[in-house]
Amino acid sequence: MTFAWEDAWQRGATPWDRGSVAPGLAWWLGQHAEALLPRRLEDVPQSGSLATPRVPHACDTRTTQGRALVPGAGHGHDVLALAHAGWDVTAVDIAPTAVVACAQRIATAGINVQARVICADFFESPPKAEALQEPFDLLFDYTFCCALPPALRAAWAQTCATRIKQGGRLLHLAFPLDERQRSAATLQSLSALVGTGRVPVDPGAGPPFVLDLHELATRLMPYFVLEDVAVEVPSAPDRRGREALLLWRRR
Ligand SMILES: C[S@@+](CC[C@H](N)C(=O)[O-])C[C@H]1O[C@@H](n2cnc3c(N)ncnc32)[C@H](O)[C@@H]1O
Repeated sequence: MTFAWEDAWQRGATPWDRGSVAPGLAWWLGQHAEALLPRRLEDVPQSGSLATPRVPHACDTRTTQGRALVPGAGHGHDVLALAHAGWDVTAVDIAPTAVVACAQRIATAGINVQARVICADFFESPPKAEALQEPFDLLFDYTFCCALPPALRAAWAQTCATRIKQGGRLLHLAFPLDERQRSAATLQSLSALVGTGRVPVDPGAGPPFVLDLHELATRLMPYFVLEDVAVEVPSAPDRRGREALLLWRRR
C-alpha cells in the first residue's frame, strides 16, 4: 500500500517532524564536514569512527562545500542546516504541501543560503527537473529511506547511486534500527488508531519501516564503499539509541 503523503501533509499529520535540524546532522556538520571535501580525500581515514571528532582545517577558505541533495525533505530543517554550513542544497519532496512549507522556510533563511526545493518523485528516471539532472557531491537521507516500503530499498540504493557523482558521498542518518524499535513503531502506529474505529492492514507496518543496516549495506555495496559509521550520535530523546550515521563513498 502506498502511503498518502500529501494527505498526511494536508492534515498536518507529520509526527516525524522534530521542529529542528536532526541532532545527528548538526553534530556531523560541526565535526566532520571536512571529511567530504574532495581535495581532502587523502585525509579521510579508511576506517575509524565518526565518533572521533576531526579538527576542521583552518586554511580552508571555500565558500561552498559542493552540491547536496535532500530527498523527502519535509519541512526542510536539515536542508537549511546544510545550506548554512555552506552546501548548495536541492531539496525534493513528493508532497506539494511539504514543498510549500520547505520553500517558505528557505525564503526566510536570508540571501546567504543557497537552497531550493523541487516537487518531484525521487525515483523519477530520468528526472524532469533540471536541478536533479547533474549528480550531486552529497546526498543526505534522514527518515526518507525508512518512509519507503521495504520493497523499494533496492531502488532507493540504485537511485541514490544515480544521483551522486563518482567520489561523492551518501550520508545516511539511519532510523529506526533494530527489533526493539519495531515494537516501538508498532505501538506508535497502533496508538494512532485508538478511538478511530479503523483497522490496520498490518499493525507492524510503517512508515517508519525498521531499517536493517546489513540489508542496506548489501543494497549499497555494489555502488558505494562504506567509509565510516557512528552509532553514538546525538539524537532526539525519543530516538536515542535507535540511530546510526553512515558515510558511504560513491565508487
Ligand atoms: C517521514 S517524512 C521525513 C521528512 C524529513 N526528512 C524529516 O526528517 O522531517 C518523509 C518525506 O518523504 C516524502 N516522500 C515520500 N515519498 C517520496 C518520494 N518518492 N519522492 C520524494 N519525496 C517523497 C514525504 O512527502 C515526506 O515529506
